[in-house]
Amino acid sequence: MTTLLITGGAGFIGSHLTRLFVTKYPEYHIVNLDELTYAGNLENLQDIENAPNYTFVKGNIIDAALLQQLFNKYAFTAVLHCAAESHVDRSITDPLAFVKTNVLGTATLLQTAKDNWKNDFTGKIFYHISTDEVYGSLGDTGFFYENTAYDPRSPYSASKASSDHFVRAFYHTYGLPVKISNCSNNYGPFHFPEKLIPLCIHNIINNKPLPIYGKGENVRDWLFVEDHARAIDIIFHKGKTGETYNIGGHNEWTNIALVKELCKQMDIKLRREPGDSAKLITYVTDRAGHDLRYAIDATKLKEELGWVPSLQFEEGIAKTIDWYLENSEWLRDVTSGAYKEYYEGLYK
Ligand code: NAD
Ligand code: TYD
Repeated sequence: MTTLLITGGAGFIGSHLTRLFVTKYPEYHIVNLDELTYAGNLENLQDIENAPNYTFVKGNIIDAALLQQLFNKYAFTAVLHCAAESHVDRSITDPLAFVKTNVLGTATLLQTAKDNWKNDFTGKIFYHISTDEVYGSLGDTGFFYENTAYDPRSPYSASKASSDHFVRAFYHTYGLPVKISNCSNNYGPFHFPEKLIPLCIHNIINNKPLPIYGKGENVRDWLFVEDHARAIDIIFHKGKTGETYNIGGHNEWTNIALVKELCKQMDIKLRREPGDSAKLITYVTDRAGHDLRYAIDATKLKEELGWVPSLQFEEGIAKTIDWYLENSEWLRDVTSGAYKEYYEGLYK
């Protein structure tokens, strides 16, 4: 039996990935190790929590003793490493938390996998989930390719770039069978409302300001989260060991155009007058070191492994808005308590 360790499975992308693997591969045993930071939420996995092939463990990826215990108990044959500190704004306020989890945590996980697998790498996979932000910032044209030089500019992207380097170093130095994917911005259900899309959906529902950094001209390439999970599944099973795959939606939006589109769709869904929600748009001080544009070229993934996004953006965003409207309790829960304090501090 394949016994698979997913880290960070209670987060946004991790929960979609865990659900996909638990339901699609009943013959795999999936262990989800998650520290349940502010971003981790077991409510994201309620529908599969009692599945016979699923086990949740609360714990930190920098805890080498715990990792060893888990490798002893479950004899993992693969690791899907999703756990991370993931929010750029938080990395600007507390960079060391990102070094701890993203750099030290990834290195601890690599070292534990190597130590436990050293006699036999056959059939083993260490899959590292990463971001397009490691490539830096584009001007008005061009794309990120798998061989684009790394040029991270925020503490978040620097910590992810460092973790990618460690993963490659373990491949080249020790022969650890690794795979890496670098994906563009994701959106969809269970997205914590500190990121642009869920934050705006939440604020439109509650008639609160929609904070747009700077002039709103920064560009992101948005992909529906289930398409990301599907790409990881394909790369995990069919991708080449030691290689990197870019994942992206070919779906670029300036922040202001995206927020206006959200406002338009939500006016209809909330039966508001056209233009009502857009009145909430508020330009605020720009993010320090704000990357101008990200855009992924995902040709390698398409040509080698046949992956293309399944959803058009209009459909994906409509699905996402509907999910948030139907899951107001989830939204209420995550916007209370510690998160609320952080949120009030950020936008005072
Ligand atoms: P998230 O912040 O929603 O979830 C992170 C999860 O990791 C949470 O459940 C949290 O509790 C857990 N975690 C954090 N630190 C931990 C630690 N030290 N030990 C154990 N668990 C810990 O993040 P996400 O948006 O789901 O991102 C997941 C991965 O995908 C990250 O590696 C991120 O860099 C990458 N990624 C994200 C995006 C995006 O648009 N969100 C795009 C490309 C790549
Ligand atoms: P975000 O969702 O934080 O993702 P990332 O920084 O990883 O791309 O932000 C997406 C874009 O939206 C980014 O250009 C920053 C911008 N943004 C705002 O304008 N206002 C906000 O309140 C937030 C959170 C982000």
